[in-house]
Amino acid sequence: MSALTVITAVAELRRLLDERRKRGETIGLVPTMGALHEGHLSLVRAACDECACAVVSVYVNPTQFAPHEDFQRYPRNLDYDLQLLKPVGNVLVFAPTDAEMYPAGFQTTVEVTKLGLGWEGELRPMHFRGVATVVLKLFTAADADYAYFGQKDYQQLRVVEQMARDLNLRTVIRACPIARDPDGLAMSSRNRYLTSEERTRGLALSRALEIVGEMTARGETNSAELEAALRDVLASAGLKSDYAVVVDRETLQPMAQLTRPAVALVAARVGKTRLIDNMLLDAKHLVV
Ligand code: PAJ
Repeated sequence: MSALTVITAVAELRRLLDERRKRGETIGLVPTMGALHEGHLSLVRAACDECACAVVSVYVNPTQFAPHEDFQRYPRNLDYDLQLLKPVGNVLVFAPTDAEMYPAGFQTTVEVTKLGLGWEGELRPMHFRGVATVVLKLFTAADADYAYFGQKDYQQLRVVEQMARDLNLRTVIRACPIARDPDGLAMSSRNRYLTSEERTRGLALSRALEIVGEMTARGETNSAELEAALRDVLASAGLKSDYAVVVDRETLQPMAQLTRPAVALVAARVGKTRLIDNMLLDAKHLVV
């Protein structure tokens, strides 16, 4: 039976991880905001497979939420999260308080200027600054060898990869595939907000991406055609899309033709809940 250690202070985390490093253990970090589901657990499993010591951080980071967003009602239940983590492995859980992460007088932030601008960044202007800042703080606290991020939040993954490269961080970023429910819906802590009718309509996101994936596989390389197909599927389910685009996989900039590896990004509102999803469009079918 695995035992879980819960740490709330950065100094204590450092002390424990220094001991582990002295024993020659590699350290893997999985940053989360809790409300864990199978998607998070797949990241934790990847960390446990690769590293002797896996650290899961559970912290609902206030600086990445805009004032009108769901920070207050974001689900928090550490005991339940610990129950889910226990069977996965012998992980360390880092669950800091707000005072520990943002002590009075806090004033330093990190911004990944270009990648953080469009798509999610346009709708949530301070979001990626908050994400980059808290992730950098977690990286410096854990000094991990590897950190695991889901492709579910594709723009976040790119922002973190860019930050790690730009700031010479020693932590290697591992991108993990999107975990989906059997019907295709990408797992998300926010799915619990959906009524069953909304959940059914929310399936349009993954369906739209599947269709575009098939179109690409059949040789369609025109982004406008692919984007029109995305919009059609979302609209026919009555969803209001915030964006539905096919962009360069590295820069997240629009591309008229799929001449480089691409990713389709979608975000839509279902009732009061925002869902995001994406799909890498397979490079081997692209025009070079
Ligand atoms: P959170 O939404 O809790 O997600 C934590 C990690 O789990 C992220 O890397 C996210 O991409 C990954 N994840 C979520 N759903 C997934 C799914 N269905 N399949 C695979 N991975 C999935 O993302 C955040 O928290 C925060 O922004 C954070 C990085 C912790 C900074 O506060």
